[in-house]
Amino acid sequence: MKKRFYITTPIYYPSGNAHIGHAYCTTMCDILARYKRQRHFEVFFLTGTDEHGLKIEKNAKKEGKDPKTYVDEIVEKFKKLWEVMQISNDDFIRTTDERHINVVQSVFSDFIKNDDVYLGKYEGWYCIPCESFWTETQIGENHLCPDCGRPVNKEVEECYFFKTNKYLSQLTNFFSKENSIYPISKKHEMENNFIKPGLDDLCVSRTSFKWGIPILENDKHVAYVWLDALFNYLSALGFRSNDETNYNKFWKSEESEIVHVIGADITRFHTIYWPEFLTALNLRLPDRIFVHGLLMMKDGKMSKSKGNVVSPFPLVERYGVDALRYYFAREIIFGQDGQFTPEQFIERINMDLANNYGNLASRTTAMIEKYFNGIIPEFHSEITIFDKEIEKMVGDTIDDFCSKMDDLHVTEAYISVMNLLNRANKYIDETAPWILAKDETHLKELESVMSHLAYVIFNASILLMPVLVNKSKEVILSLGVKEKDIDFDNLCKPEFLNGLKVTKVNKLFPRLGAEDVEYVKSLMVSK
Ligand code: MSP
Repeated sequence: MKKRFYITTPIYYPSGNAHIGHAYCTTMCDILARYKRQRHFEVFFLTGTDEHGLKIEKNAKKEGKDPKTYVDEIVEKFKKLWEVMQISNDDFIRTTDERHINVVQSVFSDFIKNDDVYLGKYEGWYCIPCESFWTETQIGENHLCPDCGRPVNKEVEECYFFKTNKYLSQLTNFFSKENSIYPISKKHEMENNFIKPGLDDLCVSRTSFKWGIPILENDKHVAYVWLDALFNYLSALGFRSNDETNYNKFWKSEESEIVHVIGADITRFHTIYWPEFLTALNLRLPDRIFVHGLLMMKDGKMSKSKGNVVSPFPLVERYGVDALRYYFAREIIFGQDGQFTPEQFIERINMDLANNYGNLASRTTAMIEKYFNGIIPEFHSEITIFDKEIEKMVGDTIDDFCSKMDDLHVTEAYISVMNLLNRANKYIDETAPWILAKDETHLKELESVMSHLAYVIFNASILLMPVLVNKSKEVILSLGVKEKDIDFDNLCKPEFLNGLKVTKVNKLFPRLGAEDVEYVKSLMVSK
């Protein structure tokens, strides 16, 4: 069993305002990082920005700024977003950091020394927004980028080519490992579209512009932005620096699980070229590349350049960060595309957070106040006919939740938690505590119903903590649990809550209405 967990987001292009598509990816990684910390793993969670390349250089020029001033301003906006989303990253890497530049220059020198690259002339097509090279056949008659559908530019320039076929057998080996690439459909897509037809050597330097990391051996060249970007995963750990502690702990050590979470649009770079670069350097490969889906709008992928984006800031301001985080985790199945619609956003919050979780917490705490002066009664098994079922369901939910989270199936894990909460709400209707309370002879049953409900709420709230970073803690504290006892190790301990003093939970998530749908609609800019 591994003890450490290294999880990374892609590093974002600071070329426009961040939207909920970016917030989605980073939030999902944050949920996994928080979960692993709950399980007492040593976690390193990385995010950052990808600041070089032609696209950034052009955007900066358009605004009359030098590229560094331009990126510095946008990077601040990304950092602000992560603060608002309560992202718990352990580091923030910028590709303009000296620690990163050193790594890219040093690995490029190795590539030259070891004959992994050769100097040649690139003649082909380039998509600036994707920073990708394409061949004549790939772009078809209309000369459009196969990834984003935008027109590509003809480029002719001297560059270094990486010998992609030199490490083909190691790449095939990586592909054949179970779980190295998820979902399996993405693995097949890469095999069928790129590996089987034969890999072209990859152009890994540029000479037609300047905004990149200079190649020490040949100052006409800067590193291709994708080679530059991928090495962030190592430079942030101190690889080839005078302090390699994190590199040793989180990359080199077999005790560490390495997971890259990426969007479907950048699968090729992570599953083909990244393992090849690592193999060329004789370094360990990641354990898992998890490809999540994209947030779509009615008119296609939400993207800065299309302009059909929703900003996360007003959503968080009005509905709270927990609501947006929950929407991401539950509504967009992790690993599949999902469409953002205002109706579903509001519906999901109402259904799961207001009606299910919030309602259960406020009903239960109100009844414990009313019937037992706020003291959680002692837990006894098998007093009512529901006790056994609910007790078992708590245990099963925790097992199911953990196995799904360990497998990165975040959405399914939270469906499981919601099922438990739903069952508990139904349990209230079935046991009708307000009727039990009318007759002294039913006291034992009433006590049992209350202690079982508190038990469900405590256990479910701990599982919800990685997502509902504020509200679930509020609920746990309102059960009278001390902050120091909020621990995964206190799950499945029915007696743990005996005698604690609850305070009533009020309107955890207020019910939203038609005016909220209208409000969210008003945030959807479409050009
Ligand atoms: N800089 C590269 C990544 C380099 S990683 C070594 C890049 N940047 S990006 O800013 O364009 O996109 C980064 C990631 O943002 C995407 O892979 C994806 O994870 C996320 N998303 C961007 N738009 C998105 C959606 N509409 N929906 C979901 N995620 C989205 O590519």
